[in-house]
Amino acid sequence: MDLYEYQARDLFEKYEVPVLAGIIADTPEEAKAAAEKLGGVVVVKAQVKTGGRGKAGGVKVAKNPDEAFEAAQAILGLDIKGHVVKRVMVAAGARIAKEFYFSVLLDRANRSYLSLSSVEGGMEIEELAVERPEALARVEVDPLEGISPEKALEIAKAAKFDDELAPKVADVFVKLFNVYKGEDATLVEVNPLIQSEDGDIIALDGKVSLDENAGFRHPEHEELEDKDAADPLEAKAKQHDLNYVKLDGQVGIIGNGAGLVMSTLDVVAYAGENHGGVKPANFLDIGGGASATVMAAGLDVILGDEQVKSVFVNVFGGITSCVAVAEGIVKALEILGDAATKPLVVRLDGNQVEEGRAILAAANHPLVTLAAGMDEGADKAAELANA
Ligand SMILES: Nc1ncnc2c1ncn2[C@@H]1O[C@H](COP(=O)(O)OP(=O)(O)O)[C@@H](O)[C@H]1O
Ligand SMILES: [Mg+2]
Repeated sequence: MDLYEYQARDLFEKYEVPVLAGIIADTPEEAKAAAEKLGGVVVVKAQVKTGGRGKAGGVKVAKNPDEAFEAAQAILGLDIKGHVVKRVMVAAGARIAKEFYFSVLLDRANRSYLSLSSVEGGMEIEELAVERPEALARVEVDPLEGISPEKALEIAKAAKFDDELAPKVADVFVKLFNVYKGEDATLVEVNPLIQSEDGDIIALDGKVSLDENAGFRHPEHEELEDKDAADPLEAKAKQHDLNYVKLDGQVGIIGNGAGLVMSTLDVVAYAGENHGGVKPANFLDIGGGASATVMAAGLDVILGDEQVKSVFVNVFGGITSCVAVAEGIVKALEILGDAATKPLVVRLDGNQVEEGRAILAAANHPLVTLAAGMDEGADKAAELANA
């Protein structure tokens, strides 16, 4: 889960990372009041979950409350890379002497953590990474050891901070790692980390992604979730603890086990090439227990997607027997009744496959077609979606 800048700012504050005061506002009036409260020069900042706000006109300096009103008026409603601004943060204005870059992230490919840092931060960091990758220091961080004060100094030196600055930024790196670890994040990024004209090191912008798999350790993270912005189908799936991701195609997919579902997506996309280019409409892993309620909840979510024209249920019975899955499908169709309107192609294999198939054959539901194999099922589902 990605956080908004103001949420990242609040987390930073909790871990004593130096940040500036910030107040969120949903209207120009609120922005004006916030500027009055903060006093002095403020910066009005679009709160959207994408970078490059500055370049898109989503970050504006306001010298007084009236200018803050105008800035908020200009920024609210702005479309930044497909994200419409509904909220701004009015932040105290910093007098920037230098802009730096720092991030720590989960490095999946190397099964480790990685820190990236540079004395050249600010809005052009993406270009810097491409054009002069040597200016961006990449230092591996051992997950068991984390960023100790010594490690932080090593990172600062690698990023070519001078002897005076290195210990100052290193202190902030340690605190940012505490955020990363303490909150179970997969990314903590600060761009820019600045040195103010008074010599203070301050995190002016923050991007944090939290690991939802660690959500059980952080019940307080639920409040950070943006329920309005969530896709309604994904929200519904989440209520039922289903592992669902909406995609852009026409063939709904239900499978058990992430690996099988991923390969089903590939096979359906491939089969779709022969049927008008139809594609998978979602990823949905119903996991180990394919009970009727789980199956009904899954089908309900998928059938709620208007783009879906057919559904491919691809289940390999392991611990769960195909009998339970077949019964689950039959009962799910009963539960859904008239809500089930789209053709279903079912491929079962594995534990008690013959018995499972027999149950579906006996039920003889008009919407259900049985497929002998995965390729055949994908082809049939794609054909039905294109009909
Ligand atoms: N509180 C602030 N005071 C002064 N300048 C700021 C402040 N916040 C951001 N800026 C300036 O605006 C630029 C862009 O803001 P930032 O928060 O990094 O947004 P984004 O990365 O989405 O463009 C920063 O690089 C910095 O120069
Ligand atoms: Mg930034």
